[in-house]
Amino acid sequence: MSKIPRHIAIIMDGNGRWAKEHNLPRALGHKAGVEAIRRIVKESNKLGVEYLTLYAFSTENWKRPLKEVNSLMKLLVDYLKSEIEELNANDVVINSIGDISKLPKICRVELDNAYEKTRNNKGLTLNLALNYGGRNEIVDAVKEICLDLNSGKISEDKITEDIFSNYMYTRDMPDPDLIIRPSGELRLSNFLLWQSAYSEFWFSNINWPDFHEKELKLAISDYQKRDRRFGKVK
Ligand code: FPP
Repeated sequence: MSKIPRHIAIIMDGNGRWAKEHNLPRALGHKAGVEAIRRIVKESNKLGVEYLTLYAFSTENWKRPLKEVNSLMKLLVDYLKSEIEELNANDVVINSIGDISKLPKICRVELDNAYEKTRNNKGLTLNLALNYGGRNEIVDAVKEICLDLNSGKISEDKITEDIFSNYMYTRDMPDPDLIIRPSGELRLSNFLLWQSAYSEFWFSNINWPDFHEKELKLAISDYQKRDRRFGKVK
């Protein structure tokens, strides 16, 4: 496995449909989705992926029934509590993107604990997109730039694409090389809009809880065959 993507981002879709297929409540579909997270984090770390961004909760997901929102928040807390020791032992760094100030306090406490514990690790960065929206991220960056313009910290002629990138949540990360979306949907759903300008996409019909190491390797080997020209000619 040469040419491993440095940054893989995944839209973890199809938990609800998986639950329906198995005659289970939606919450159990999300629970099965967490099992897929465990597998894919481990495998990504093993393969030498540097950044794995998982779309765990979008700015639009607040519109779901309160019961489902609560069960997702609980799964996040349970995941962090139960996995933190092993993630830490495997040198994983925990990070998040999105406005986590709107998450329940218990989630923020566990996240803070996980950042603190893992910040000096050197392995995979597990980047959780939580209350994340690509348009919201761009608007937030523009607001911050306006503040810096008004205070004289930067001047208009200094604003370049690179400078703009430094105002995004992903400021310390490379753009995603590969974006994966399972469950048969072919859209970006407000995920990494700025950062995906030159990402390669990989879609699959299986639902996220059925996503295994095999699918990750298939996506990567497909990616390795792509000719990335970034607008240039060879
Ligand atoms: C999409 O499936 C999935 C989500 C909106 C949530 C993903 C979250 C988790 C797997 C668990 C919580 C996160 C962590 C980090 C532990 P869907 O419900 O839209 O599926 P459907 O389209 O089939 O209904």
